Amino acid sequence: MIYLDQAATSYPKPAAVIEAVCSALATAGNSGRGVHGMSLAASRLIYQARWELAEFFGASDPSQIAFSANATESLNMALLGLLEPGDHVVTTELEHNSVLRPLYLLQKRGVEVTVLPADYQGRVDFSALAAASQPNTKAVVCTHASNVTGNVIDLDYVLDFCQRQRLVSIIDGAQTAGWYPYNLTKQPIDILCFTGHKALLGPQGVGGIYVRPGLKLRPLKTGGSGIKTFSKTHPETMPEALEAGTLNTPGVAGLAAGVRYLREVGLAHVRKVEGELTQFFFAEVKEIPGVTVYGDFTDQERCPIVALNIAGVDSSFLSQLLAEKYNIATRSGGHCAPLMHRALQTDKTGLVRFSFSHFNSKAELEVAVQALAEISEEYGPEGDG
Ligand code: ALA
Repeated sequence: MIYLDQAATSYPKPAAVIEAVCSALATAGNSGRGVHGMSLAASRLIYQARWELAEFFGASDPSQIAFSANATESLNMALLGLLEPGDHVVTTELEHNSVLRPLYLLQKRGVEVTVLPADYQGRVDFSALAAASQPNTKAVVCTHASNVTGNVIDLDYVLDFCQRQRLVSIIDGAQTAGWYPYNLTKQPIDILCFTGHKALLGPQGVGGIYVRPGLKLRPLKTGGSGIKTFSKTHPETMPEALEAGTLNTPGVAGLAAGVRYLREVGLAHVRKVEGELTQFFFAEVKEIPGVTVYGDFTDQERCPIVALNIAGVDSSFLSQLLAEKYNIATRSGGHCAPLMHRALQTDKTGLVRFSFSHFNSKAELEVAVQALAEISEEYGPEGDG
């Protein structure tokens, strides 16, 4: 299998990640719930993982990072935990349903939402933030990079705006954590939501949320935390405030191993390899008859994604052909980002997304380019398929 669906979940995982998950399954008890060796081993593991993630993201206080199941859960924690009826929030058409659906829910509860438009290349003009903000605006929530096109937003501009206007910045790092070198000490990101199973190379089912010190979120879940058993209310101190119930300890162990792997290999190396693969693939596929590539490729800083369609070829059929005839994994159809598809005018057709990691090779991409050329010839505008 040539695996080009890295934006959905990364594959392969480094051997160290698999070993860490298996080792935690074999040895870890429940963190913070006992004084016996296995419970303490789990506590150490979680403590160490939090510390390593904080260092990786440049956060000065590891306890401001809570583990969650994924970016979706973290975004729900952020949005439902921060916004109240009467508040106003600004977002963009780039967003994944993990942002949009909590916002639609909040809209029903009396939260006002403004959505900044994306153009046909999936770019958002953030200078529109000034006109969009109102006296009751509390936050800006936006993805750092589109999961559909790989376009990266002007994060500095957004953060600067939020800081000047005293708005809470909520960044969806689902596609960027493990790819972009965050420095949460220097960058004024108030809330960063991330998943572990994409560019951080960890297993599925684990992610996290960073909350700037001093910012309080109403917890989405309350329950056991291992501390303050006799209190009727959930602890307010981080990270327990956002971590009710037993954590996914094997997942956290795998996530920490993914972060260690990335630090050893170096994000600069990963980004260089992925950038070269992306530019190579883009340059090749855009020459294939009938191919439309979506997104802004004038910007070199982009996530390793190339999304496309071949005129006259249904995107699901194309993805299926790639899987069945060529053994190439891609994602097709809608990508849980409905407003983005509308902006790209792919809401009726969907598209096929190729996404890469530094584990992919140019040789694999050459096979995919050849496959697309053959499919275009057979089924595309000039084919007779
Ligand atoms: N959000 C993931 C994707 O873009 C699953 O495929």
